[in-house]
Amino acid sequence: MCGIVGYIGTKHAYPILIKGLERLEYRGYDSAGVAMISESGGLNVYKAKGKVSDLKAFCEEKDTTGCAGIAHTRWATHGEPNSTNAHPHFSASGRLALIHNGIIENYITLKEKLVSRGIQFRSATDSEVLVQLVEYIMQSNGIELLEAVQVALHQVIGAYAIAILDREHPDTIICARQSSPLVVGLGNDEAFYLASDASPIAEYTDKVVYLNDGDIAVLQLGQELKVVNMDNETQTPNVKQIDVTLGQLEKGGYPYFMLKEIFEQPSCLRDCMRGRINVDADRITLSAVIDYREKLVNARRIIIVACGTSWHAGLIGKQLFESLCRIPVSVEYASEFRYRDPVIYPDDVVIAISQSGETADTLAAIELARKAGAFVFGVCNAIGASIPRQTTTGVYIHVGPEIGVASTKAFTGQVTVLSMLALCIANERRTIHGDQYKEMVKELTQIPAKMELALKTNEQIERLAPIFTYAKNCLYLGRGYNYPVALEGALKLKEISYIHAEGYPAAEMKHGPIALIDSEMPVFVIATRDRLYEKVISNIQEVRARGGRVTALVTEGDTQIQKFADHIITLPDTMDCFQPLIASIPLQLLAYHIAVCKGKDVDRPRNLAKSVTVE
Ligand code: AGP
Repeated sequence: MCGIVGYIGTKHAYPILIKGLERLEYRGYDSAGVAMISESGGLNVYKAKGKVSDLKAFCEEKDTTGCAGIAHTRWATHGEPNSTNAHPHFSASGRLALIHNGIIENYITLKEKLVSRGIQFRSATDSEVLVQLVEYIMQSNGIELLEAVQVALHQVIGAYAIAILDREHPDTIICARQSSPLVVGLGNDEAFYLASDASPIAEYTDKVVYLNDGDIAVLQLGQELKVVNMDNETQTPNVKQIDVTLGQLEKGGYPYFMLKEIFEQPSCLRDCMRGRINVDADRITLSAVIDYREKLVNARRIIIVACGTSWHAGLIGKQLFESLCRIPVSVEYASEFRYRDPVIYPDDVVIAISQSGETADTLAAIELARKAGAFVFGVCNAIGASIPRQTTTGVYIHVGPEIGVASTKAFTGQVTVLSMLALCIANERRTIHGDQYKEMVKELTQIPAKMELALKTNEQIERLAPIFTYAKNCLYLGRGYNYPVALEGALKLKEISYIHAEGYPAAEMKHGPIALIDSEMPVFVIATRDRLYEKVISNIQEVRARGGRVTALVTEGDTQIQKFADHIITLPDTMDCFQPLIASIPLQLLAYHIAVCKGKDVDRPRNLAKSVTVE
C-alpha cells in the first residue's frame, strides 16, 4: 500500500505535495519522490530512499517550482526500497512521469514485450512498466496521453491507482484507478487535488470525488473534472462532502488503526494471494518454491523461529507442515533458540516469521542457523527489511504497513502464506492427493469472503465487551489448530487492555489451571466445528461445572452449544486447518472493544513497540 498525492492549480505545488505525503506516510515509508513541471517547462523528478523527511532534505537545493505535480510514498511490493525503485517513474524519453499504488500481476509479460522493442528499464518495479507502456503506445500510434492510457490499461491485469504528468501538457494530470483507492479534490480556486485517501485533501477542500474502478480522470486547469472509462465513455463524477476529521481520515474513518487493520484483513488476504493462486483456484505458484524446490520439498526437518504473534502463526504452520507435508517441525521462541546452543543440521529448513523483519531475537536466530549451514527462509511483511535480506529466500505477506502495535492483519497474512507454502510443498511431495489439494486451494480463496462474515460479529462483540472490563484474569481455550488461536487471543487482550490472560490447550486445563476457574474469571473457548469439537464441549462442561462463565466461538448451525455457554459467537464454517483465519477475528475484536471500554490507547499500548529491534 503506497501513498499518492497530486496537485494542479495556481499555487506552488511542491509544499502541497510534501505536506500530502506526510499525511500519507502511515501507508508506506520506505522511499518517496515528487515530479513537477517547472516554471521553465522542464519535468523535474526527485526521489530518495527513506522517509518524506529524507526527500525534503534531498530537494532543498533543487528546482521545486511549478504548479503541477505528483508525489508518492512507497511501501515496496516489487523491487528493493531505494531511490531507483522509488516513484515517480519516468518514461524512456523523459516526457512522462507516473506514480502507482497497487500490484501489476502481468508486469513481467508486458516488460518482456517492451524490452524486445528496445525499451530500457531503470528499475526493478512493476510500476515502471506502466509508464513505459503508455509512452510506447503514444509514440507507436501517434496518439495523445489519454487515449494511450486507455489502450495501455486494457492490457494491464492487477490493481492500480495511477497519476501521470506529461511535460508537453503542463496544464493536465491524468489519473486512473482499479482496485486501489484514488480520490480527486475539487479546489475552490479551480485547482484539482488527488490522493490515495482524503486526508491530504481535507485541509484544502471538502468537495471530493471517490473514483470508481475503471475510471480515468482528466484534471485540466480551467476545465470541469472529466471522467471517462477505458472505452472513453463519459462517467458522471459523484461529488461528495468530506465529513470526518483529518485524524479519522488517516485511519480510513476508523477511530484506531487497529480496528481499520482488523477490517481490512479480507482485502489484505486477497492481496496476499493475488498472483500466487491462479484465478481458477486450482494451484498455488510461489517463486521461492520453484527456485528452491529441492531444499524445501526434500526437507527432513523444519525449524520455525519467531516472537510473539509471529510465533503463534508458527504454531499453526507446524500443524500445517506436519499434517500436509509430513515433515517434522519444531517451533522456537527466537529469544530462547539463540542462546540454548540448539542442534541445527545443514539439511534443516529454518523459517523465520516476522511482520517487521527487524526483530533482534529473530535476526540472531537466523544468524545461528546460517552459521550452521541450514537453509533459511523468511516470511515477512516489510519488503527489503533486515530479515528478508538475511534469508536465502522467502515469501512476503503483502498486507501493507501494519501501524497498530497489536498485530492483526499480519498474523492472518502469515498464516495465509504458511498455508500456501504447506499446500505447495505437500503437492510437490505428493503427501496430499491432487483432488484434496485443489479442494483446499479453492477453500483458501474463499477465506476472505468468510472473514467478511466473521467481521459481522463486531456489533455483538462491542455489546459484550463491557461485561469483561472488570476482569483481572481471563482464560482462552482451544484445541488443535485453534490452540494457537487461543494463545493469540490472550496476547491481544493482554497487550492492549492490560488484563492478564492465558491461552491454553483446552484439554490441558485439567492439569492445573482448572483450579483458577470461578465466576469471576471469563473463559473464552474456540469450539468451532472440527474433529475435536466433542472434546472441546467436554472441556466447556468441566469449566461450567465449577461455576466458570463461558463465551464460546462456534460454527454456524451449532445446536448444542446454547446448553453449555453463557455467550455465543457464531462463525462461518471452513476446513479445520483454515479455522484460525476465521476464529482469530472475533478475538481481535474482543480485545479491541474491551481496551476501548477501558479507555486504553489501542494503537500505542504502554511499554510496547511495533518492532522490538533490541534484545
Ligand atoms: C503482536 O501483537 C506483538 N506486537 C508482538 O508480539 C509481535 O508479534 C512480536 O514483537 C514479533 O514482531 P515481528 O513479527 O515484527 O517480528
